[in-house]
Amino acid sequence: MTQPPKPPARPKNVPLWQYLRLFRQDILSAQPARLYRAWMAEFRTPFFRSYLCNDPELVDLVLKERPDDFPKSERVREGLAPLLGNSVFVTNGETWKRQRRIIDPAFEGGRLKDTFPAMWAAGESAVARLDALATGDPVEIEAETSHVAADVIFRTLFSIPIENAVAAQVFAKFKAHQRAQPVVNLGALLPLPKWFPRFHSGETKRTARDIRALITKLTADRMAEIEAGTAPDDLATKIMTTADPVTGETFATEEMVDQVAIFFLAGHETSASALAWTLYLLAMYPGWQDRVAEEARVGLTTAEDFGQVSKLRVARDVFRESLRLYPPVPMMVREAACPERFRGRDIGKGAQVVLSPWHQHRHERLWERPDEFDPGRFGTENGKMCLRNAYMPFSAGQRVCTGAGFAMVEGPLLLAMLVRAYRFDLVPEKPAMPVAHLTVRGKDGIWLRLTPRQRKTPEP
Ligand code: HEM
Repeated sequence: MTQPPKPPARPKNVPLWQYLRLFRQDILSAQPARLYRAWMAEFRTPFFRSYLCNDPELVDLVLKERPDDFPKSERVREGLAPLLGNSVFVTNGETWKRQRRIIDPAFEGGRLKDTFPAMWAAGESAVARLDALATGDPVEIEAETSHVAADVIFRTLFSIPIENAVAAQVFAKFKAHQRAQPVVNLGALLPLPKWFPRFHSGETKRTARDIRALITKLTADRMAEIEAGTAPDDLATKIMTTADPVTGETFATEEMVDQVAIFFLAGHETSASALAWTLYLLAMYPGWQDRVAEEARVGLTTAEDFGQVSKLRVARDVFRESLRLYPPVPMMVREAACPERFRGRDIGKGAQVVLSPWHQHRHERLWERPDEFDPGRFGTENGKMCLRNAYMPFSAGQRVCTGAGFAMVEGPLLLAMLVRAYRFDLVPEKPAMPVAHLTVRGKDGIWLRLTPRQRKTPEP
């Protein structure tokens, strides 16, 4: 049986200039095949040393045991600064800890339940929007998943749908921003010398400024509503009214703008990528698609019933398996704050430590049949063991994705709603190939054909 698409590995030994060129095009296909078997690999260049760690013990050390000794690299901050300022995604140390103390309560389990009706509404809206496209003609599905994921963020954060004038502008500007900054990963990942030009074009800076101006308006309006006692009870209000239990401080408007920018970026790009790849996989494996559709037909109830999510087990396992094969954030970079010794090798202070969900999730010595799509694997011994030790689509440890719980409700729910309404089929002339932009996307988009599913009358 055909396997899910995987980028070809680069030839074994390529000169540095060629590696950098390949890296600029796509960090996934720039890597050699041995990374799918190695526990650790070292990259030496005149500018930097970089260590990719697949060994679960090393990953634990960096992310869970001593995360303060492996901060986010300054390059990541530089790469994303025009848009994200000092958001929680890029800060370190005390600033980061304070920001998480204020943000985390908004994403706790109980609050997730409160956001559920907004997610449901976004799902219904997406089903309605897709109706016009369900003609059997090819549809670029990433654009659609991006739309619904952005809608979820606006509805849960600010209680406004994507059709709201400001929300629609933010969404449009983000698309322009991504077009202006196609190689965001390069500047972010490579510790190039100071004289090396950074990749912020004039257009990148302009679109980032526009987005921040729009978000500032949303945030300032919300502050006024909070003061007037008329603010809706959503994620933005929760975050803006939460005081840090240690310092007693709340976010000032500017710092909140940084956080909203990252919620929007991290929250919609990632979920959009995950949902698009999941639909593609379901089109490749129609048997699984039918199982998701049937589960949804029986299991989906109403916007008020949060409990239904835990019953969407097939949708959850399918989504999980899709996050394994196509982790939206393919690699994460940290910096060694002091000299280290990894697997008998000396790691210098300042070296880059790369943790790669992409490689760990397809590691040949960890996962059985790593390149195959099998949502049933999570019920096997190997699947359970790997889920604990070799699965990190949301990272792990203290810096784990703030939205992990949120995304694991949103993903299966949207999947169930979309697949209940439509059948998704491959477009043979347009096969997808993963490529890493800000997240893992289709090289030329992800194309599918949609047709309405036979609507069955719901059971009494
Ligand atoms: C399928 C969906 C998602 C995936 C796969 C994902 C993945 C990740 C990963 C891997 C990181 C760590 C990055 C690093 O350390 O370099 C991260 C961080 C983060 N994510 Fe997500 N994410 C998703 C959805 C969301 C959502 C829905 C939100 C918010 C609404 C969100 C907000 C954040 C934030 C704020 C951080 C920074 C956390 C910190 O550094 O302390 N993410 N995410």
